[in-house]
Amino acid sequence: MHKPTYETYKYINGPMHQALRHDSAHKHVAGTAEYIDDIPEPAGLLHGALSLADRAHAEIVSIDLSAVKAHPGVVCVLTGADVPGVNDISSGGHHDEPLLATDEVQFHGQPVFAVIATTRDAARRAARLARIEYRDLPHWTDIDGAIENDAPLVTAGMTLERGTPEAELDNAENRLIGEMRIGGQEHFYLEGHVALAIPGEDDEVQVWSSTQHPSEIQHVVGHVLAIPSNAVTVHVRRMGGGFGGKETQGNLFAALAALAAKKVGRAVKFRPDRDEDMTMTGKRHDFRMDFDVAFNGDGRIHALVANFAARCGYSADLSGPVTDRALFHADSSYFYPHVRLTSQPLKTHSVSNTAFRGFGGPQGMLGGERIIEEIAYALGKDPLEVRKANFYGTPGSGRDVTPYHQKVEDNIIARIVDELERSCDYQARRKAIIDFNAESPVIRKGIALTPVKFGISFTLTAFNQAGALVHVYQDGSIHLNHGGTEMGQGLYTKVAQVLADAFQVDIDRIKITATTTGKVPNTSATAASSGSDLNGMAAYDAARQIKERLVAFAVEHYQVPADEVEFLPNRVRVGNREIPFPDFVKKAYFARVQLSAAGFYKTPKIHWDRAAGRGTPFYYFAYGAACSEVSIDTLTGEYVMERTDILHDVGKSLNPAIDIGQIEGGFVQGMGWLTTEELWWDDKGRLRTHAPSTYKIPLASDRPKIFNTRLAEWSENAEPTIGRSKAVGEPPFMLAISVLEALSMAVASVADYKVCPRLDTPATPERVLMAVERLKAGG
Ligand code: MTE
Ligand code: HPA
Ligand code: MOS
Repeated sequence: MHKPTYETYKYINGPMHQALRHDSAHKHVAGTAEYIDDIPEPAGLLHGALSLADRAHAEIVSIDLSAVKAHPGVVCVLTGADVPGVNDISSGGHHDEPLLATDEVQFHGQPVFAVIATTRDAARRAARLARIEYRDLPHWTDIDGAIENDAPLVTAGMTLERGTPEAELDNAENRLIGEMRIGGQEHFYLEGHVALAIPGEDDEVQVWSSTQHPSEIQHVVGHVLAIPSNAVTVHVRRMGGGFGGKETQGNLFAALAALAAKKVGRAVKFRPDRDEDMTMTGKRHDFRMDFDVAFNGDGRIHALVANFAARCGYSADLSGPVTDRALFHADSSYFYPHVRLTSQPLKTHSVSNTAFRGFGGPQGMLGGERIIEEIAYALGKDPLEVRKANFYGTPGSGRDVTPYHQKVEDNIIARIVDELERSCDYQARRKAIIDFNAESPVIRKGIALTPVKFGISFTLTAFNQAGALVHVYQDGSIHLNHGGTEMGQGLYTKVAQVLADAFQVDIDRIKITATTTGKVPNTSATAASSGSDLNGMAAYDAARQIKERLVAFAVEHYQVPADEVEFLPNRVRVGNREIPFPDFVKKAYFARVQLSAAGFYKTPKIHWDRAAGRGTPFYYFAYGAACSEVSIDTLTGEYVMERTDILHDVGKSLNPAIDIGQIEGGFVQGMGWLTTEELWWDDKGRLRTHAPSTYKIPLASDRPKIFNTRLAEWSENAEPTIGRSKAVGEPPFMLAISVLEALSMAVASVADYKVCPRLDTPATPERVLMAVERLKAGG
């Protein structure tokens, strides 16, 4: 028996709102956190490799696999014809993504066949030996090409509208027409895609997949193998980052591993290398926004018409909801009295683009902020002043309705921006920067303060549900499982805190267990920042059920009223006696109390009618603001992040340490998107930036030299979310818009701030230099 320590505890260790470290932090740094490629390999394990198309769009005339099959170590070769079920791994029922291409390839890098061999090296070498004959078809890989070629849409676009924007534009006091190009982004998770499948008896198969969406892996494996979902069990303990890149993109590797494993009756692993992963898997959508805006002399927007065209790649994947979310965030934090927003999810012969932190929201919001910036330069005002003139008003002000007709009821953006403006000394620093620039011939500085408002909920209402499974064992230890996945964001820690709080036990009583489709079924992707909102509530619901049974037991066993039973730190008070939690649980077991429960939660209030463009798609909004200062070298275009101050709203934080990590990480990732991360495809449709040698994510040295992050500690979610917290995963990504706009101001200084520099993104040093030269030459 372990020594009871409960008496010494007044409080429990690890309840909600405590700044606990991530449960795996020490294992991440020591290398003992187990990722799929670390799992001890089963006897007889085989390895898979893929052969990728080297054409952007072509008919497959013939495939000669004889040299592949003859290569030493090769056990079998799989083509689309080997699929017993459907040769399709698309998500969302689009049926437009073959597992392996059969008659036609639609992007440079599309998987054509797979080789299964005794070693990874043999599989990779053999995959290169095929002779594939193609007949080229016309291709276009970018947005301009798609528009020139009248490309089809991969899925229907959406329209959000109110009022009579065209008529208002025609009668405008001031009117501006413009365009902005917004770049894509590679996820660059540290752990790449990987899947391991072990065949079982009859139709069964177990799959370990680095995925944000185990249930979808289960469905896709079932469809490909023509077996029911109950034959497929998917496990994931953790990912080494997902960032949206593992919401659907793991389907390919998991389905191939399962297909091969069932075919040869041995365990099979697929782990592409970094170049293949970057070539084969989808990225953030790049966009072109075209806008036409009317505004008054104060910079207040009166009417806006904007179109968001996106490079979706060859299939739909998540492009529908991604381009929808771009429109949902094109308002940023601003009220548009008359508005029409349209999306154009364009088909291109490039890898199918997918979810990435913010899910189209960042692209939409960046478009909205560019419009503000354009207005500010046109009127000779500080962009912050124009922002304030356009903020949503308080409820009932008549300026509180979004283009999708949801009322903004929890608006705190004005307070957040005011507090940050004061705490970072924005006004004085901006003045000092303007003075500095006037005297500095080469180095120029810029500063910008930008807001964030981000809608929380999956826009497909059905996805806003979650389950949890909680067992209390006889020794008082607790087993926690839920449908959310851990990708480094700290979800497992937060949900364990919820449970520790509910049972009033120390967190080390709780065993966090790997997500598996066998314990909690029909889960949604861990995405849309909703992981802790949904799974935290589901775990809380499971705890509630067990506690209710425990209370009923105590009432009967000890003959006390229910309000005399109280869960105190690591013990239970029953009348005037206090019983250690494990002893209490043991007594309940002997009284045959069920000590296990399945919890469930669905988000209330939300509904969305996409065809009408009306509803309440979001349960609430998360807010934040950032102020960034940069300096640029006007002779080279190089720049330095001097300082960033952030004030961000996470409601009542479930875990301030983890939340600040999410905010800083999200900001830096957003900064990379807007500055150095450039994707580049050549005219053959080949991605040339497929490795860190050519694709530049931010380094530790690129972070702002001064970096202050604070939580809006006064904020509480107005809705009854778990602990009154708010989602944190994606919203901070968009705080990085302040960096782009600070760069823009530094560039604008070379033309006395009279011309909007119109920096497209990523604003690489080359782009900054070209903008400087353009402005020096007169715009
Ligand atoms: N943080 C880390 N460390 N790694 C990740 O992969 N993904 C982000 C965000 N933060 C991610 C991350 C994305 S895209 C989302 S949607 C959320 O985490 C998902 O987790 P949550 O819903 O539990 O916040
Ligand atoms: N966000 C993230 N992932 C999603 C969404 C969303 O709104 N909808 C479907 N997958
Ligand atoms: Mo996050 S893009 O919703 O996985």
